[in-house]
Amino acid sequence: MCGIVGYVGRAEAAQILLEGLRRLEYRGYDSAGVAVVDGGNLETRKCAGRIVALARLTKKRPLSGCFGISHTRWATHGKVTDENAHPHFDASGKLALVHNGVIENYQLLKEDLVRNGDTKFRSETDTEVLAHLIGKLYDESCASTVDVYQKKARLLGAVRAALQKVIGTYGIALVHANVPDFMIGARRGSPLVLGVGKGENFLASDVSAIVAYTRDAVYLNDFDVVSVERDKFEIASLGGESGDHPVSKVEFTAEDIKKGDFRHYMLKEIFEQPDTVRDAMRGRLSVEECTAKLGGLNMTPAQLRDVGRIILTGCGTALHAGRIGEYLIERLANIPTEVEYASEFRHRNTPMTPETLVFAISQSGETADTLGALRESRRKGFRTLGICNNVASTIARESDGGVYMHAGPEIGVAATKSFTSQLVILTLIGLLFGRMRNLSTAEGSRIIEALEALPEQIEEVLKLSDQIKAIAKKYADVNGVLFFGRQFNFPIALEGALKMKEITYLFAEGHPSAELKHGIIALVRPDLPSVFIVPDDAVFSKNLNNIEQVKARKGPIISLTSGNGAKQLKEIANEIISLPDAPDCVMPILTVIPLQLLAYHLAVELGRDIDKPRNLAKSVTVE
Ligand code: G6P
Repeated sequence: MCGIVGYVGRAEAAQILLEGLRRLEYRGYDSAGVAVVDGGNLETRKCAGRIVALARLTKKRPLSGCFGISHTRWATHGKVTDENAHPHFDASGKLALVHNGVIENYQLLKEDLVRNGDTKFRSETDTEVLAHLIGKLYDESCASTVDVYQKKARLLGAVRAALQKVIGTYGIALVHANVPDFMIGARRGSPLVLGVGKGENFLASDVSAIVAYTRDAVYLNDFDVVSVERDKFEIASLGGESGDHPVSKVEFTAEDIKKGDFRHYMLKEIFEQPDTVRDAMRGRLSVEECTAKLGGLNMTPAQLRDVGRIILTGCGTALHAGRIGEYLIERLANIPTEVEYASEFRHRNTPMTPETLVFAISQSGETADTLGALRESRRKGFRTLGICNNVASTIARESDGGVYMHAGPEIGVAATKSFTSQLVILTLIGLLFGRMRNLSTAEGSRIIEALEALPEQIEEVLKLSDQIKAIAKKYADVNGVLFFGRQFNFPIALEGALKMKEITYLFAEGHPSAELKHGIIALVRPDLPSVFIVPDDAVFSKNLNNIEQVKARKGPIISLTSGNGAKQLKEIANEIISLPDAPDCVMPILTVIPLQLLAYHLAVELGRDIDKPRNLAKSVTVE
């Protein structure tokens, strides 16, 4: 949610900053801006619209200078206008600031500034208030100095003093026209990483913005303030402690974040799933003991055995993975498991027994609601583990342990490969806890075999892409789509509907098949297809009854099935997509893929912006 990039070095900053923004566009794309300093002159370009609009603007009116900051916005405070686009400035216009987060007490701070004569606010944003506050504190402290070292120290002092007054969240980067080759960054609640180069250094919301220039990164902690120059940087907490800030190697390369031959990131990521599913289980299966090995949980066998209850929490797609996790863990390990919306969990008093274990599921590891849930559960003293993709993310770092997805960067806003990786990991968790309890070796082996078969089976499913494309073409003028499934495939109905909403903007709902008759059936009509996820399993015949009920009311039926299902659906369903078979608890990893493809092809047919859908952002770092 909002992306920021900063640069101090010897190269032209504008190109590096724009390129960085392109990599961060998934975080927000309603407006963008860049500010560069050259010989004491601060120049800015900013506008509503995508990064391409900003690139056009900077091509028309080029920027020169070797240090600067940039921002891509997802609006929270203030409409999408040129004025509200970042960077924002202090009253003198010499200090430029970009911000990701929300300054909750900005009204109070603004009233204070206005009372003291500061009235030149140009935008409606909370960020501008912080720029003014820092600028005012700096101007007051700096009036009498010309020494550049003192200027740096005083700018840093002003940032610190201003941030002490802030309530809310921020990842910020700022520069000042009078303080050459110097940039300050700080974070609280919103991610910020320092990229360490040779004779140049970077700040960014996410390493993907800078990985083309350096793979050495320092992940800042909450309350860290960093001053960045070409050849050095200094990090200290807002309280003044220097702390430990190791330089880590970024796991992926610039090549990994390219689209390759695919038209969209989403399609590329859907097609990566044979590999990402394999990577999620790599080295984690013990064929001999018929169990899973998850050392990252940091729990002894006795601790694993003593877990009496599990809570799975997350948002969006991650929450849907949690819903399947609930079925999985209860089936395999017989441990009572609850799924909680992270945003609800953190504010309500969920009864928790002392032996409760909490999992926070998040691809980005930065989602504000999920992070809030994790912190609340840790504050209460519960062991809280992360299931994250982003290795250096806040959730990964603040949890007591966890399991990484190893899915590689996911750029498409609609989550795909991270979902199937989450499902593999939740299956491993179910298997591990099950084998610590009553799950037999035979059952354990059956799950392992099913997991190991998945990559090839996914390859098979991906071959159905053309069939699904043809279905999408046929149904391109529908008014919405309903999704139904039972048991393990009920959450897949939810996820299928979410994908459809996110990228086609069509009305879509997912429900347990049997709920159809309790209200939803009133919606059924010829221009509203129902997608039934009905593998050939123990509830197939029950599902068949529901399909008949829709058929009787002239609702078109698109079915996903396996085994002998196709034979029985031949006379009833308008479309049949046949999938390879798997045990019911593993089947969702296969059934979700045609639904990802259906949403994708339908969105292409409708001419939607697949990788940057309307109003959404991939990483939601505000509440
Ligand atoms: C946003 C994205 C969703 C995603 C959710 C949770 O809403 O648009 O696609 O599922 O955040 O993201 P996380 O990174 O926590 O998995």
